[in-house]
Amino acid sequence: QRNMVTVDHMEADDALDLIHEAQAYKEGKKPELFQKAYAANLFFEDSTRTKSSFQMAENKLGMEMIKFDASTSSVNKGETLYDTLKTLESIGVNVAVIRHPETEYYRDLLKHDDLKISIVNAGDGSGQHPSQCLLDMMTIAEDFKSFHNLKALIVGDIKHSRVARSNAQMLHSLGAQVYFAGPKEWFDKDFEKYGTYGDLDTLLPEMDVVNLLRVQNERLNATEGLNFDCDEYHQQFGLTKERAAKMKKKAIIIHPAPVNRGVEIDSSLVEGPQSRIFEQMKNGVFVRMAILSRVLRYQEVM
Ligand code: CP
Repeated sequence: QRNMVTVDHMEADDALDLIHEAQAYKEGKKPELFQKAYAANLFFEDSTRTKSSFQMAENKLGMEMIKFDASTSSVNKGETLYDTLKTLESIGVNVAVIRHPETEYYRDLLKHDDLKISIVNAGDGSGQHPSQCLLDMMTIAEDFKSFHNLKALIVGDIKHSRVARSNAQMLHSLGAQVYFAGPKEWFDKDFEKYGTYGDLDTLLPEMDVVNLLRVQNERLNATEGLNFDCDEYHQQFGLTKERAAKMKKKAIIIHPAPVNRGVEIDSSLVEGPQSRIFEQMKNGVFVRMAILSRVLRYQEVM
């Protein structure tokens, strides 16, 4: 597989293969080293976890990294993403890890047969976040033997979240029962093919996995001005201590982070016994090692 841009149409077995490979690395399996492979990480949107986690994965695979700073690149002179990738490919870069604000920025790039560099999507607009999705599935798989009939609730800004889209698709494909909660205006009927929208307080006590989403302040500032009230959101749709007390004892909380403490989740729950938020970050490195290894094996660069 040359590229990894979406989990749309990814077979469940294919996802499980990547998760098993990631789990093997976590348990100490030595990775295949790709010392002749070069990666460039192109982040046109801010990131802490995904960017540093890909860098860590590249290090662990023995890859070389070519620094790319979107804010000082020739993209600012109008160079297209295609020309940027052709340039990196020409100087010998094998893999471009890209985060971009445009949903499906990769669609036209994939039509260029001459583009040999591998594209790994690190998040596109409100489209997809495949590596986050796989690390979330890996984290869930560590607590539950099977996805079949597992009840997973995704809470928050469903419509604009790439994490919600990737996770809803993959959870559904793996056999989980998917539910959604949050402000009705932040839900999109498109998601009904994966699961059911309902009332947070009714659904919560039945759930095995509670996947909270970040309130995207940067989007709200642009679209809804200062009308958004964080305290009101926390009371209506946040995981308060009172709500958390009603969860099943074996249920887990996941969140892609960054976390708005006191908004989508009470701050004390972030480090609590049911939270897997920091385990998700740890698992991210192993999942990204599995993803990079897969595209490099395709390219046969060792
Ligand atoms: N979860 C996630 O994508 O975090 P970053 O935006 O910090 O990469």
